[in-house]
Amino acid sequence: MATHTFSLPKTAARLERMPPYGFELINRRIAQLSAAGADIIRLDMGSPDMPPPQPVIEMLQRSAENPNCHNYGSYRGLPAFRKAVADYYARRFGVQVDPDTEVLPLIGSKEGIVNLALAFLDRGDAAIVPDLNYPAYTMGALMAGGDVILMHLDPERNYAPDLQALRQHPDLRRAKLLWVNYPNNPTGATCDLNLYAELIAFCREHDLLLCSDNPYAEVVYDGYRAPSALQVEGALTCTVEFMSLSKLYNMAGWRLGACLARREVIEALLTIKSNVDSGHFRPIYEAGALALNATPQSWIDQRNAIYQARRDAILAACPSIGLSAFKTSGSLYVWARVADGDDTAYVQAALEQAQVSLTAGSMYGPAGKGYVRISVGVEDSRLQEAIARLQRWYANWN
Ligand SMILES: Cc1ncc(COP(=O)(O)O)c(C=O)c1O
Repeated sequence: MATHTFSLPKTAARLERMPPYGFELINRRIAQLSAAGADIIRLDMGSPDMPPPQPVIEMLQRSAENPNCHNYGSYRGLPAFRKAVADYYARRFGVQVDPDTEVLPLIGSKEGIVNLALAFLDRGDAAIVPDLNYPAYTMGALMAGGDVILMHLDPERNYAPDLQALRQHPDLRRAKLLWVNYPNNPTGATCDLNLYAELIAFCREHDLLLCSDNPYAEVVYDGYRAPSALQVEGALTCTVEFMSLSKLYNMAGWRLGACLARREVIEALLTIKSNVDSGHFRPIYEAGALALNATPQSWIDQRNAIYQARRDAILAACPSIGLSAFKTSGSLYVWARVADGDDTAYVQAALEQAQVSLTAGSMYGPAGKGYVRISVGVEDSRLQEAIARLQRWYANWN
């Protein structure tokens, strides 16, 4: 019998368009260093270090004890969770949405961000993505076979999009989605309602869906209050907003978020989602609904005060570690310029020599070159230790 040597089928062409996820590479290197005995302090991840409100954890426990909670649920998620999202938007932003037709629960907003691209983009279509962005906007577009148009953010205008330049872009007619995110990852920049009004007017004029990714709306400092794009009169015609419990209630590992949009957009997203996932675990929805319905503002304020103190500690340390920082009023990050402009070398040396992990700005787009992102999602004593390590390391670097 002729011998046959097995060849693994070639992977899809779409993988060639997708660079490996930046954090996956960081995680691999950290795993190697940790296996060799290093104690790495992670200031790279935007993952809250503190727990969710205690009643939310207790609700998860109680609900998981219910023998009727373990079967498949609805593709549209638990009605009580959808209603809790709608009620939160009404209470917090004065925005009215129909919980049954204009809210769709997500398995973390990252899932919805990618699936929205699959629902709207064909080959030849494009998504407009800020140059400095959460990578899922780009990856979703590439996975869908679409292209990415990078949109310049103007540091002189608190990282607002340069719509004048975008208007002149030769491929603007191919675009269907326009992504924005305030409070911003990675810069921490914030915006006011006027910016959303400007963006909505632009999107209406060019038949674009404004995709407002708003997971940091309640991670704010110095008295700043973040708006929702849906507050603009008539916004729902052309706007999708993504919300998430990950940063709102320190529930990143729970993977719970929601999309708010007009019915047709929800139905398109659901068509993709219902063929890919089967919704979330009911106790997670129940605990998530409780988080939205019953967490007092004082819980959020106390949590933010802790982040704000950490932000201030990082800002104060920046000059001693070769960084100059932009003061943020929101998000989980400090965005800082590296003295000699080489973010990759800085981050690599900080990891290998000081055993502190930061994120290189270039991971977020070409405009991030020369910057690093530092997360405040790390416990106070570890943050102090990280700063001390960076100071010792930087004093002898180069
Ligand atoms: C801007 C932005 N959007 C979306 C996400 C994804 O959040 P989730 O945990 O809801 O998937 C993140 C997570 O860091 C983020 O920074």
